[in-house]
This record gives sequence, structure tokens and C-alpha cells, in this order.
Amino acid sequence: MSNEIVSLKDVRHDPRVQTYITRANEQMKTVGYTEHGHRHAGIVSTIARYILTELGCDPRQAELAGIAAYLHDMGCVVNRVGHVEAGAMIAYDILTKLGMPPEEVATVIGAIGNHEEPNGQPISRESAAVIIADKSDVHFSRVQNSDALKFDIHDRVNHAVQKSFLRVDSAARTIRLELEINTEAASVTEYFEIFILRMVLCRRAADYLGCKFGLEINGVCL
Ligand SMILES: [Fe+2]
Ligand SMILES: [Fe+2]
Repeated sequence: MSNEIVSLKDVRHDPRVQTYITRANEQMKTVGYTEHGHRHAGIVSTIARYILTELGCDPRQAELAGIAAYLHDMGCVVNRVGHVEAGAMIAYDILTKLGMPPEEVATVIGAIGNHEEPNGQPISRESAAVIIADKSDVHFSRVQNSDALKFDIHDRVNHAVQKSFLRVDSAARTIRLELEINTEAASVTEYFEIFILRMVLCRRAADYLGCKFGLEINGVCL
């Protein structure tokens, strides 16, 4: 496949990517984490690509953001702790073998390596898009724990989110995460308890893209 552009489709269909993300999510489910599998990878990939496309970036840049986003949590196949670095190294190996040029590999692994607080920073447009897309995927369908009595705060907050939508307004240069939360299932305070650092990182990422980041919960802009 060398000398050919490595597409998001090539990456998604690669058997190593398929297996490692499936096994990563099995591991997350076993230790009681929310969903980190192909559903999460696909949604984050679509949103990351959408952000850069809406902001008028080069299509290849948007695709590289989509590739980094698809692979961003693959390192959970090793362990949740250190999944950022492990994922970047596994992606380096796969993408290099697929024939992706080093310049593009560097962009992708840099974006994977910077997607998580507290050490992640927006260091490129692609990484900024991955950060915002990843933090936007908060939704009841991510809860894998079937016993509500065993829900932790992450389960409760995700379970309470009925709808989530990321709105990019290229003319106004705004990126807004719109959530509908069932406040009987989790309070807005609980949302902030676990999401404040993530929102700070989103704000920095939006700044990097020359945009303002906003959060809207149940129709109220915060
Ligand atoms: Fe992650
Ligand atoms: Fe993630």
C-alpha cells in the first residue's frame, strides 16, 4: 500500500485496528469503564473530521484528524493507565506498515498522545479536533455496567445524558457542546465534577482553532 494515501477507511478496516479496539473495550468493560470501543472510535472520528471540515481546513488534514480520532483510545488494549502513549506507539507501527509517510504519522501520533487531560495539549489542528470530539461523546449509550446499583459517577453522568450534539459555527467561530441531561439521574454539579478539566481542555483546543468553546445544558448556555 506504500505510495498510496492511507485513508480513514483503510485504517478502520485494518484487522489489527479491529482486533485491538475490540479487545481494548473488552478490557474497559471488565474493569467497569464506559464504552471505549468501535462505537466511541467511530463517533469521535466523525466529529473530529466534521470540526476541521466545517472550519474550512484542508480535506487531508480533516482525514488525519479522523484517523487519529479513530485510534485515540486503542492503547486501552494495554492498560487504561498509559493508554495515550501505548496507543500512539501501536498506531505508529500500524500506520507505518500501511505505508503512511512519517510526516503524517507524526501528526497522528502527536494527536493521540495529546488527547487526554491533564498532560494533553492542543499541538496541532488535528489534535485540537480530537480533544473536542473525544470530550463531546458523553451519552447514555456509553454505559456498559448493566447494574444501576453499581454505577459510578461516570456511569451516572453518561447515563443521564439523553442527547449530545457538537455545533460548529464557522462564521461565528464558535464550537458548542449541547447536552440534554436528565437531572433526576445525575445533577449538573456531578457533570462538572468529572468534566471540568475536560471542558478546560476543550476551551484550549477551541482557542487553538481560533474559536470560542461553549457548553449548553438543557438549553442554558454556560
Ligand atoms: Fe482516552
Ligand atoms: Fe476517548
